[in-house]
Amino acid sequence: MHQLIDIHDLTREEIESLFECTDQMKSTPVKFSSALKNNTLVMLFAKPSTRTRLSFETGMTELGGHAIFFEMGESQLGRGEPISDTSKVMSRYEDAIMARLFDHEEIVELAKHATVPVINGLTDFLHPCQALTDLYTLYERDLLDTVAFVGDGNNVAHSLMQACGKLDVSCRVATPPEMEPDETIQNRVRDADVVVTNDPYEAVDGASAVYTDVWVSMGEEEQREEKLAAFEGYQVDRDLMDAARDDAVFMHCLPAHRGEEVSAEVIDGPQSIVFDQAENRMHVQKALLYTLLEE
Ligand code: CP
Ligand code: NVA
Repeated sequence: MHQLIDIHDLTREEIESLFECTDQMKSTPVKFSSALKNNTLVMLFAKPSTRTRLSFETGMTELGGHAIFFEMGESQLGRGEPISDTSKVMSRYEDAIMARLFDHEEIVELAKHATVPVINGLTDFLHPCQALTDLYTLYERDLLDTVAFVGDGNNVAHSLMQACGKLDVSCRVATPPEMEPDETIQNRVRDADVVVTNDPYEAVDGASAVYTDVWVSMGEEEQREEKLAAFEGYQVDRDLMDAARDDAVFMHCLPAHRGEEVSAEVIDGPQSIVFDQAENRMHVQKALLYTLLEE
């Protein structure tokens, strides 16, 4: 693996070996405390973040390296410097680049001009670090069976569908008709056990995990009223969880909006593993950084 822009570019073996490395990062973190000594990661953000920023920065520190927070609006990028020039300059200083951007084409452009590994920390189209973490979290619990996603068919759902496809995990995605996953993603998982429906109950039937994401993604604030209306009937509540397997877990990438995509009862209840997911972001990304920079 030389970068992580899109799960589509990974093999099943690469994902499995990332999970094995993550097991080691979790069980014997001290063993890796100097693994990336003197390495630097620049973290370019065009959107807000809590988990991605903290987990990458803490992860680099725990590996003996250093992470630099780089806010797009406060840099020359915000004044029109091309992403290609920025990428070339960053590559002269840093050992790796992580970026959270709006348009997916921007990270493709960034990676095209970089001579160091580039990691996608979320675009409007994909969120690969999240999906790898989500499936690792299920793998740890021996629940890699059937994942149901109920919500918006955008970045988080796209990467989850692709990750499930790569690992032969069944995936059921329920979205309102106007928010179905992008055709490109649906075509890529055409041969996998991935089903798209508009019925949340059909999606969760027999699921080992029920997953949702915010209804209004970053950058969509002006569409808020319209989106909330479209999602009526798609909340993950007690009734929907009861339609999944008895031992099903509830998952969410966070941040969450109680009373919108999920009821407080579900996200704060015994089936919820959302904070294990958040914690695992750091372990999986440490394994990713180690794989990209050290191996
Ligand atoms: N799930 C996730 O990426 O969280 P942040 O937006 O807080 O980074
Ligand atoms: N779909 C959400 C994910 C947040 C981690 C967004 O893009 O805002």
